[in-house]
Amino acid sequence: MKNVIAMVNNKGGVGKTLLTINLASVFANDHKILIIDNDQQNNIATSLLDYKLEEVEAGKTIADAYAGQDVDIIKMYPDEHGMGVGKELYLLPSNREKMKQLDRVITNKKQYYTLLKNNAALQAHIKEFDLVIIDCPPSLNAFTMNALNIAGGVIIPVIPGKNELIGISNLFTAINDIAKENGHKVDILGAVINQFESNRSVPAEFVEEMEKIFSEEQIFQTVICRSSAYSKATWDGYPVDLQLRKEQKHVKDFYDLKDEVIKKLNKK
Ligand SMILES: Nc1ncnc2c1ncn2[C@@H]1O[C@H](COP(=O)(O)OP(=O)(O)O)[C@@H](O)[C@H]1O
Ligand SMILES: [Mg+2]
Repeated sequence: MKNVIAMVNNKGGVGKTLLTINLASVFANDHKILIIDNDQQNNIATSLLDYKLEEVEAGKTIADAYAGQDVDIIKMYPDEHGMGVGKELYLLPSNREKMKQLDRVITNKKQYYTLLKNNAALQAHIKEFDLVIIDCPPSLNAFTMNALNIAGGVIIPVIPGKNELIGISNLFTAINDIAKENGHKVDILGAVINQFESNRSVPAEFVEEMEKIFSEEQIFQTVICRSSAYSKATWDGYPVDLQLRKEQKHVKDFYDLKDEVIKKLNKK
């Protein structure tokens, strides 16, 4: 499915959730966007809907989708404070307790890799959106494999540091397995450098490592810097484009990333 992107990296703390929130939010100004929270941490809702988390988790979440049921999709904006007017951003949240229980049953078991693909109700919802971004857990477990199995492309956030790329080969293997065993091809849209120290240049050694793993077109030109503006926005419960003006670098970078994603999707 061309319009489904999985945000993956088997390492935690690289920015999958932060990139999902902020990229989805800028897309949602002129596209109908669904975020699927496919991580048992339920961090999209704990960040953006913390004030009504109980209500959110009481609904039919991605955990119910794994159980073959229909889901409740939440319209995020405008929110109770009138923020985000004009955005078409929707969320299929996770559920921490139910995902933990599911995790014990389905982790790493191949027979469960098609649960999301075979859920007709979920697939019908997905078709209603221009773009779906699936935030994945920091592991190549059955949740991530289910996401890869319905995704047209993957975005891989990486941190420019020593040893940060170890383990990416396992992700490539997982993508190949999905192609071999399920006949489903996922495109690597590319790796995005995140948490870049903006007053320095990306270390040459890191660029070299990147180029060994990814082709030139698989490396996004846009680089997301490390900034308290992002962590503060998440802390306050908003994507950064609802806190800063469009011209400010932190927001502009996500618009640039959006433009690159559109170009890559159009090429496929
Ligand atoms: N560019 C950034 N600038 C500042 N903080 C960041 C940035 N990217 C991620 N973080 C912070 O780092 C932590 C891990 O990011 P997160 O998106 O949760 O990673 P993941 O989902 O890959 O585990 C979070 O506290 C997040 O707010
Ligand atoms: Mg996360």
